[in-house]
Amino acid sequence: MDPPRQYARFRHESPITRISLGSGAPDAWLVTRWEDARTVLAHSATSTDMSRPAFPTRSHVAMPPGFFLFQDDPVHDVFRKVLTREFMVKKIEALRAPTLEILDGVLQRMVSVGSPADFVEHVALPLPSLVISELLGVPYADHEFFQHHSRVLIEGTVTGEQKASAQQALSDYLEDLVVRRLREPQDDLITRLGRQLSTRDAADVGSFLLFAGHETTANMIGLGVLAMLQHPEQLPLLLENPVGAIEELLRYLTIAQSGLGRVATSDIPVGGVTIREGEGVIVMLNSANRDEAVFPDADVLDLARPNARQHVAFGYGIHQCLGQPLARMELQVVLPEVFRRLPALRVAGSVTYKHTAAAYGPARMPVEW
Ligand code: HEM
Repeated sequence: MDPPRQYARFRHESPITRISLGSGAPDAWLVTRWEDARTVLAHSATSTDMSRPAFPTRSHVAMPPGFFLFQDDPVHDVFRKVLTREFMVKKIEALRAPTLEILDGVLQRMVSVGSPADFVEHVALPLPSLVISELLGVPYADHEFFQHHSRVLIEGTVTGEQKASAQQALSDYLEDLVVRRLREPQDDLITRLGRQLSTRDAADVGSFLLFAGHETTANMIGLGVLAMLQHPEQLPLLLENPVGAIEELLRYLTIAQSGLGRVATSDIPVGGVTIREGEGVIVMLNSANRDEAVFPDADVLDLARPNARQHVAFGYGIHQCLGQPLARMELQVVLPEVFRRLPALRVAGSVTYKHTAAAYGPARMPVEW
């Protein structure tokens, strides 16, 4: 569960360093310290537009406006403002009881299948997609369709063609749902998006929320359970104070393992170097969250850590995770409850991990109880 050791060396010897990504991708700066990570991510002269030639990636594609993480202000700001109210803590709190019900359902199904069962397939993956269905206002009858295609989207073993066709199916479905909701409005997010945005943009925002909030939360649920199984002595802390415990799990596990990409749109002085206009940067959140200058004994999981909430697992600056109140609520509900319901839960075979995916987590996790 630790990031590669080299990052600790970088933090001490060359915290901001030039790196080569190979395979035709442009060279970039690698930022490894917490303070420098925040400086870069909060800087107004940074772009997330992946179509810029210096963006640290191999696929320089322009994303549709509704995928607003990849847009700069003012376009980004238009979408973010439409959604800000939807993710306010009060709104998300209303999803707490439905989330517990969804957890009940998926746990019951896993238990009825019998032990051993794959925790990722039965709990970690379906739960966040069902919660996002609830948030958007996907009718109950369509949950299975929605879940099937969203699962294909993040499945490691399917072909690019299958993924593209799942993306198209979801996008068509959401567009159709927006049109239906404009005819017969409901008190749900899809209706509100349809009123404020074009049908295409509203459907793209729906797809993007699914993309941003499904696998990320699923990985945190799976890894969170594994981390607790490795540190059973800290289980009482999770059960007594899930709010604080989740922050430390977010810091320690930092699932955004490949870092956040940016392009400098003017010179950025940071940590003693100058990132020049037009150069690419990768901000390593997993290294920043293990920075000893901020988190003493940073490689130790300590659910009582007083400043765990200073982590940057959700990023920082204008693109800081919009879904964090939702992700926090889901983790606060799910992680303690899984151990309350299944106190004898244990791993029952070899766990496989997504080493090369943008978001780190277990791909398969056989458990018994
Ligand atoms: C534990 C789970 C999650 C983690 C670790 C996570 C992490 C992140 C990170 C690191 C970013 C910043 C990306 C960047 O600056 O380049 C981000 C952005 C974002 N996340 Fe999350 N996320 C999680 C769950 C969610 C959920 C549940 C949703 C919503 C359903 C969501 C929606 C978004 C959106 C919309 C953005 C883009 C914000 C913007 O550009 O203004 N995330 N997330």
